[in-house]
Amino acid sequence: MDSMQASVDIHCHIMPGVDDGSRDMDTSIKMLKIAEKNGITDIILTPHHKPMHHNVSPEHNKVYKDRLQNAADKVGIKVRLYSGNEIYYSDETQRELENGKICTLAGSDYVLVEFHPTNPFSAINNAVYQVQGAGFIPVIAHVERYSDIVSHPAYVEELIDKGCYIQVNASSIMGKYGWGIKSFVKKLLKNRRVHFVATDAHDTGRRAPELADCRSYVERKYGREYANRIFFDNPMSIIRGEII
Ligand SMILES: [Fe+2]
Repeated sequence: MDSMQASVDIHCHIMPGVDDGSRDMDTSIKMLKIAEKNGITDIILTPHHKPMHHNVSPEHNKVYKDRLQNAADKVGIKVRLYSGNEIYYSDETQRELENGKICTLAGSDYVLVEFHPTNPFSAINNAVYQVQGAGFIPVIAHVERYSDIVSHPAYVEELIDKGCYIQVNASSIMGKYGWGIKSFVKKLLKNRRVHFVATDAHDTGRRAPELADCRSYVERKYGREYANRIFFDNPMSIIRGEII
């Protein structure tokens, strides 16, 4: 049997009690155990940051992250945690980023940005421009969720040309969101347009932090080298604050 390859998750909702992800410390610990079993060695915690939502400040994000890390250390879980946010893009985003009100991914210049599924590409495009204007590098969260992009795959190309990075959810690759989404992400993988595969985990059940099956699938279909890049090397570059 192959020894499991290390993976790094840049998108998950494991921080307890702050959003619609893990509801308490107990759940978070269970999620971390699942992550560890999946070969995940490093996790960027990305609670939702959105308008009309009680957002965790960067100061609290660090406190809660450290608290979870301590609890994990205590039960022998060997996963390293980092602060982050999943930013639901709004008119406030640029100003909030400039004023340090939002966590970037592990303190890097990369930020994880999401949109409403029915946002037109023009809105996504404008958002990218605003985020870059504030001096940050957009990572597009679960690109397969945006209907306008799914029906116009060339838009992914455009985003990459503009300097964006592309994240897809492992569950979408594994077909949990249906055939249409799966065939879209397969096309992206085939053309090497995916920079990150992440869990977007919310719980210990249907949305658990699982990557191992997806990783072996990607290795089998698209090669070990590319799999290693999108499950480990690229995420690690973010954590180390390096250029991808
Ligand atoms: Fe998410």
